[in-house]
Amino acid sequence: MEKREIVLSGIRPTGNLHLGNYFGAVTNFVKMQETNECYFFIADYHSLTTHPHPDNLQGNVRQVLVEYLAAGLDPEKATLYLQSDIPETAELYLFLNMNAYLGELERVTTFKEKARKQPDNVNAGLLTYPTLMAADILIHKATKVPVGKDQEQNLEMTRTYARRFNHMYKADFFPIPTAYNFGKQLVKIPGLDGSGKMGKSEGEGNAIFLNDDPKVIRKKVMRAVTDSGPTEKNQTKPDPIENLFTLMKVVSKPETVAFFDEQYNNCTIRYGDMKKQLAEDIIAFTTPFREKIEEISADQDYILKVMNMGAEKARESAVKTMREVRELIGFRKIY
Ligand code: TRP
Repeated sequence: MEKREIVLSGIRPTGNLHLGNYFGAVTNFVKMQETNECYFFIADYHSLTTHPHPDNLQGNVRQVLVEYLAAGLDPEKATLYLQSDIPETAELYLFLNMNAYLGELERVTTFKEKARKQPDNVNAGLLTYPTLMAADILIHKATKVPVGKDQEQNLEMTRTYARRFNHMYKADFFPIPTAYNFGKQLVKIPGLDGSGKMGKSEGEGNAIFLNDDPKVIRKKVMRAVTDSGPTEKNQTKPDPIENLFTLMKVVSKPETVAFFDEQYNNCTIRYGDMKKQLAEDIIAFTTPFREKIEEISADQDYILKVMNMGAEKARESAVKTMREVRELIGFRKIY
């Protein structure tokens, strides 16, 4: 049998899934779990680097897990777990930190940004965020890591630490992981504020969440930025209008998109009508997710079962790696 790649990615337990996350990342995870050995975990250790007293951390972790399950991650196909259920990660982090240097860690862009944002809490965990991330990846000897652009530098650090470890302990031990992107197939979902991409930090109303109820969706869509309409036939669409069409393309029927496109091109379009249609199509798209989220969230036994199953599978692989790591470094030789 062909050897399956080991794919791993971490999810920060912050907030709810929106359409941008869904089309940008989650659908890929769902596809990957069919053909790879996948590990997906919720990075609760990492959240302590920015939130030392995370309000309701467990609630956020649970909600994230529930939403990913509702979006199609399958605990029978992928290993889904909490980072903190695998304390072996902390041990590997310790070993990797012994060969991680201050200078290189200080140069990491995400560190510099976070240090700027929280000048009163530039803690060692924040500085060594990339070593913890390397430990997450290397503990399962993952080779493919689906991450966004903003995480590529962190992944580069993982490669550095893997190579350094291999060199230091004269072993061809850790595979060197690479970013895993479905490239062109990725759809970048714009926000409703007329610019850029959908994101939860871009301000109220910019993102549509999978668990938004229909009233909220209608309100957000009706408030989306538009302009006073086309004045010439076949005019190029300005960004805010193009954005509405992009959203429509992922949730509506091709005929619907073609209908409004034609109206745009002959200058008869009424954005109010288009938005009404878009809102209804988004509601039709998200309703099954919202219902599934509710259903899973009400089933505490199932959630616990999923977490325990994931912890067990992930620990098996982590324990094995750490036994080998300790031996390579030289611990255990005395007994
Ligand atoms: N740093 C990632 C983020 O901010 C989350 C993460 C933690 C991660 N550990 C990881 C991603 C390991 C991929 C692999 O989104």
